[in-house]
Amino acid sequence: MNIVLLGAPGSGKGTQAARLRDGLGLAHVASGDLFRDHLGRGSELGQLARGYMDAGKLVPDDVTIGMIRERLDQPDAASGVLFDGFPRTVAQATALDAMLRERGERVEGAILIDVDEEELVSRLSGRLICRECGASFHIRFAPFKACPEGRCDGEFLYQREDDRPEAVRVRLETYRRQTEPVIGFYEDAGLLERVDGQGDVVDVTERMEAAVRAIVERSDAGQGERQKER
Ligand code: AP5
Ligand code: ZN
Repeated sequence: MNIVLLGAPGSGKGTQAARLRDGLGLAHVASGDLFRDHLGRGSELGQLARGYMDAGKLVPDDVTIGMIRERLDQPDAASGVLFDGFPRTVAQATALDAMLRERGERVEGAILIDVDEEELVSRLSGRLICRECGASFHIRFAPFKACPEGRCDGEFLYQREDDRPEAVRVRLETYRRQTEPVIGFYEDAGLLERVDGQGDVVDVTERMEAAVRAIVERSDAGQGERQKER
């Protein structure tokens, strides 16, 4: 099964993916995290991505698609993927369809996490990330209690360069212009579920799980239909 998480910067894609992936048995593929890994390793791809990321703009499609293609070749991706932050343009969504088709797979569903703009800004401006395990916290909404991987005592928390107010403004604008059309792409394909992303993290997770169940049911029904046609 392959599921795409859609939502504006700060809508909680990363937070929810981390809570869902194990129960679903899916690999969590987050394009932003992959770029930040490259950056940390000082790779050529990381160097290239940095300028775009710090400014809040999208890394070019060919570079991003190439990186995801490579990631899908890793063994853990074979059992299905929870995509977080990819696709972010219609060209990327089309490329993802093609990549999965080559593997005899498809996107079973997309979940849009819906959050008001004002809330997005306050979430991003207070976010802190653990440099050791990549977990995300919030100064007020989700203060550091313990490292989920038991690797630190909160001494590695930092603010992302692109969570500065100026970059946040550009990221939201980029989202509206380039990523919102991807919502229509999945809606037209009959694959979209919308989830209210406001309120408690735990409550949002429950709504996400309901959306996943709807996707599984629809996909099972579709499977039956396709078998009948054969
Ligand atoms: P990426 O890392 O993907 O950033 P993003 O989409 O802007 O998403 P975020 O990580 O900011 O937000 P999130 O939705 O995961 O929210 P989170 O769970 O952390 O991308 C970064 C950059 O990389 C891009 O700008 C671009 O340059 C490049 N890039 C990445 N993918 C690309 C692609 N496909 N194509 C081209 N370029 C690409 O939550 C946010 C905060 O809110 C946290 O502090 C969290 O604790 C808090 N929070 C979460 N849920 C709640 C809740 N229910 N209530 C209160 N607070 C909450
Ligand atoms: Zn940690």
